[in-house]
Amino acid sequence: MPLTRAEISAIAHSDHPVACPLFESTVEMLVEKLALTAGARVLDIGCGPGVWLDFVTRGRRVDATGVDLAAPSLQMAQARLEGRGAALIEQDARSFLDAGPPAFDAILCNGSSHALGGFQPMLAAIRNSLMSGGKALVSDGFWTVPPTPEALAALDGTEDEFPDLAGLKHRAEAAGFAIEKCHVSTAEEWDDYEESWCGALERHADEQAMSDADRKTIRETAASHRAAYEDGYRNVLGFAALILRAV
Ligand SMILES: C[S@@+](CC[C@H](N)C(=O)[O-])C[C@H]1O[C@@H](n2cnc3c(N)ncnc32)[C@H](O)[C@@H]1O
Repeated sequence: MPLTRAEISAIAHSDHPVACPLFESTVEMLVEKLALTAGARVLDIGCGPGVWLDFVTRGRRVDATGVDLAAPSLQMAQARLEGRGAALIEQDARSFLDAGPPAFDAILCNGSSHALGGFQPMLAAIRNSLMSGGKALVSDGFWTVPPTPEALAALDGTEDEFPDLAGLKHRAEAAGFAIEKCHVSTAEEWDDYEESWCGALERHADEQAMSDADRKTIRETAASHRAAYEDGYRNVLGFAALILRAV
């Protein structure tokens, strides 16, 4: 069986479990700013292997729920969050929210806007599922400059795929949120993320036993990703994490 995209992604994130260009210290700072009180109901949409919920539940007694479609990721989340009482639900995010769960005090959606149809529909969906005054911790990409042809080719994307930073913030405000904090990923955070991603794959291909076909796939994935970043979207695609308050 050839390697799946999910298996390649799991290897690529082994040195940098946060699946976004953010240092762990940044994630910690952002979660701290949610000011979660004991018993707060917290939802992570597209929680993947539970990395953000790990930060959320460290030293806090909150009522945490993670929703994701991918059973293997949820198994990793289960192991990571052992003993923290988090509910991990294998379900499509839209159908989970449409079922009308009791409102949440905080909702996270990072690297997972697509689970709810993109940044704007994601904001609308989570706004409906938050208590009044509840907080959202969300993140997405934006163009730091008008996208170059090289960046668009590297991302296999379109110019209208992302707004600029002002546009990203405007979408949050238009969805009924006040912006409490906006962290823009630094060049160091980007380089660290992309280098970790490619480096973990290259090391895996060098050190682990596998078929020649898998080794070739992994090396080619790392090489094309490195080229896409370095020659394509580096300094063109930005990434912002926002703390939002439902107003
Ligand atoms: C890039 S990962 C981000 C994981 C995690 N938030 C993080 O930052 O580490 C995107 C996640 O969204 C999940 N996902 C994609 N579509 C989804 C959907 N319709 N409903 C729920 N989860 C979904 C994927 O399975 C994947 O785990």
